[in-house]
Amino acid sequence: MIEISQRGMDMPSSPIRKLANYAEAAKKEGVKVYHLNIGQPDIETPAIMMEAVRNADMKVLEYTDSAGILSFRKKLAAYYQSKNISVDYTDILITIGGSEGILFAFMACLDAGDEIIVPEPFYANYIGFAMAAGIKIIPITSSIESGFALPPIESFKAKITSKTKGIFICNPNNPTGYVYSEEELLQIRDLIKEKDLKIN
Ligand SMILES: Cc1ncc(COP(=O)(O)O)c(C=O)c1O
Repeated sequence: MIEISQRGMDMPSSPIRKLANYAEAAKKEGVKVYHLNIGQPDIETPAIMMEAVRNADMKVLEYTDSAGILSFRKKLAAYYQSKNISVDYTDILITIGGSEGILFAFMACLDAGDEIIVPEPFYANYIGFAMAAGIKIIPITSSIESGFALPPIESFKAKITSKTKGIFICNPNNPTGYVYSEEELLQIRDLIKEKDLKIN
């Protein structure tokens, strides 16, 4: 008989998706449901993009380069360079959304048992990504009183142990919407350099 692995058993379901069944059941009962669990886009998708999808001139939907479509990577690099951010297209890997990118980063930069420090509240699925990679998230709580600004850098220092491999931030933050200031980002950068951490 096929057995589920321990990791599979431990894996939490997506806190976002697990509410969907309850919502559907409630709707069938005629209850008005406000979907606060998922951030469905409410901004119209640019017409130029929808047109490009409709008019795609291809007979077969083939595999692309493993790193992503070359012209797309070059355009992205040119965009970052136009903002004085020195990125070459060979530094860019296209992934199927943020989840895959985060999981790749965890798997490529961290070993089982490693720790990363993450300001909370954070995107709920980070727990599942960390579980899949066998790493531990060490949260540092940001407060509503400060508008969810970066907690004092000393609180990050206090959580650093021999297992700490990085500080993980999402800017602008989801779910708080807080945009970390240049000063806050430089504090993180300096700490990463000082402690020789790998990921941020
Ligand atoms: C902060 C953050 N990280 C990762 C993800 C996952 O991204 P995706 O749905 O593109 O896999 C989301 C999605 O909402 C997110 O808000």
